[in-house]
Amino acid sequence: KKDHQVNEESKNKQLETFRARDYEHSMTTNQGLKISEDEHSLKAGTRGPTLMEDFHFREKMTHFDHERIPERVVHARGFAAHGEFEVYESMKKYTKAGFLQEPGTKTPVFTRFSSVAGSKGSAETVRDARGFAVKFYTQEGNYDLVGNNIPVFFIQDAIKFPDLIHAVKPEPHNEMPQAASAHDTFWDFVANNQESAHMVMWQMSDRAIPRSFRMMEGFGVHTYRFVNDQGEAHFVKFHWKPKLGAHSLVWDEAQKINGKDPDFHRRDLWESIENGNFVEFELGVQLLEEKDEFKFDFDILDPTKLWPEEDIPVKIIGKMTLNRNVDNVFAEMEQVAFHPGSVVPGIDFSNDPLLQGRLFSYTDTQLIRLGGPNFHELPINRPVCPFHNNQRDGYGRQTINVGQTHYHNNSLSNNKPDTAPEEDGGYVHYQEKVEGRKVQARSDSFKDHFSQARLFWNSMSDAEKEHIIAAFSFEIGKVNDMNVRKQAVDMFANVDMNMATQVADAVGVEAPTDVTQSSESKSSPALSQENTAKVPD
Ligand code: HEM
Repeated sequence: KKDHQVNEESKNKQLETFRARDYEHSMTTNQGLKISEDEHSLKAGTRGPTLMEDFHFREKMTHFDHERIPERVVHARGFAAHGEFEVYESMKKYTKAGFLQEPGTKTPVFTRFSSVAGSKGSAETVRDARGFAVKFYTQEGNYDLVGNNIPVFFIQDAIKFPDLIHAVKPEPHNEMPQAASAHDTFWDFVANNQESAHMVMWQMSDRAIPRSFRMMEGFGVHTYRFVNDQGEAHFVKFHWKPKLGAHSLVWDEAQKINGKDPDFHRRDLWESIENGNFVEFELGVQLLEEKDEFKFDFDILDPTKLWPEEDIPVKIIGKMTLNRNVDNVFAEMEQVAFHPGSVVPGIDFSNDPLLQGRLFSYTDTQLIRLGGPNFHELPINRPVCPFHNNQRDGYGRQTINVGQTHYHNNSLSNNKPDTAPEEDGGYVHYQEKVEGRKVQARSDSFKDHFSQARLFWNSMSDAEKEHIIAAFSFEIGKVNDMNVRKQAVDMFANVDMNMATQVADAVGVEAPTDVTQSSESKSSPALSQENTAKVPD
């Protein structure tokens, strides 16, 4: 046995002989002192003031005073469950990820669904994108697939995320509206950041008011990489397909349900699992050979574009079953920390500029949300495989690092290698060749904001089109500033003139006469001639 394990065991054994068995059900302080009185504080006389000396009162109240932690800056309202993922088909040819090698391999998962804009207590059937985050506890470490129920995103570059979210969250001067996207600021952002067109079409469709967490698709959104044991890579996009099919509410229902049961989605998920109706999603992948990277009229690094499934079919490779509710919402759902940067060997990133920025943001926010650098030790975040390195200390540290040396490359621990872990094979970043000038720009096709938005509109049935027009009319109709209404309507004339004309009529602005906007985002810096020439490097 390793030295530190022996130490730990003998320490526990020693303590065990002293354990006070008759305490099992007694109320105690955090120091283990039995409490005789939990309802009356200590006072000077029956009518006198409370005494500071009452350590039990102080401890109880202090702990309560510190119960709240910051809610997530986005996706604050959500619900989660445990389950497992089972592989149907080996992905060996494409990736060396251990959990995808053999059909039948099962991996425990924890999956959290969420809305994006509302606060932690907001109603659940609002019009919004939904988060779909899955933590796979694999034998090679945790892998997080942190996706949404819409396959594209509002913006192309992470640097705009704070702007997007400031526009979406309740307006700062009056904190209204609370749950759904703010109206004036949201539509002002959309009209001035036209790369949002495609996602806004999805957002105005029935996809943004799902009937249930059990009945929505999930998407990784970004292009990722699979890398096999030969070091060969494929581009990959991830999809979750609900076994129950994708179903939506209609807007009128959604609004009424929000009033009657703001917990509608969590109740539905919780009760299904409690009743043994386990929740199933199949995992699909779209795979693209590296040599085909430039075959499309869009850039595969652009997160506002999807890969048409007619061209690159979704291959179903496994199934996730959510079959166990949590024991405690705070400990598990609130403290879980997902991160698109948690990957395992065989899964790697692409240069999608939205993904690249996300790789920074999640740990950064969790450092404050979960109170310091040790949140990976919380039970819900711990990998199932052992983890050790030379990190130590920090707020809330639970691991007792043993031994004299906590630094890499040392001679003192030579005879006790387990107290000074060594590199021993493991994750190797894909060696993509990258060359170019430092520019704040992207390739030209990033400026096409409407082609796929149009495809989306054209793929809709008549009933779905009616719902989209009604959604635009409702949402833009809530905007106070008539100029913002007009800009938003004009922008969507680029998608469909007839649609925009009907919305214009409903929200009381002049109908667009022509496609008035250039397809380029007003605020995106145009590539300078010089940069344009250099970018395809
Ligand atoms: C949560 C940042 C784009 C899906 C979060 C959180 C942050 C964040 C700070 C809170 C995390 C926490 O407190 O634990 C960003 C940034 C983005 C971005 C900077 C763009 C640059 C996206 C995209 C998706 C997504 C494109 C979907 C593909 C999610 C989900 C959660 C989340 C599902 C909730 C995870 C949970 O349930 O705990 N994001 N996000 N985000 N984000 Fe993003």
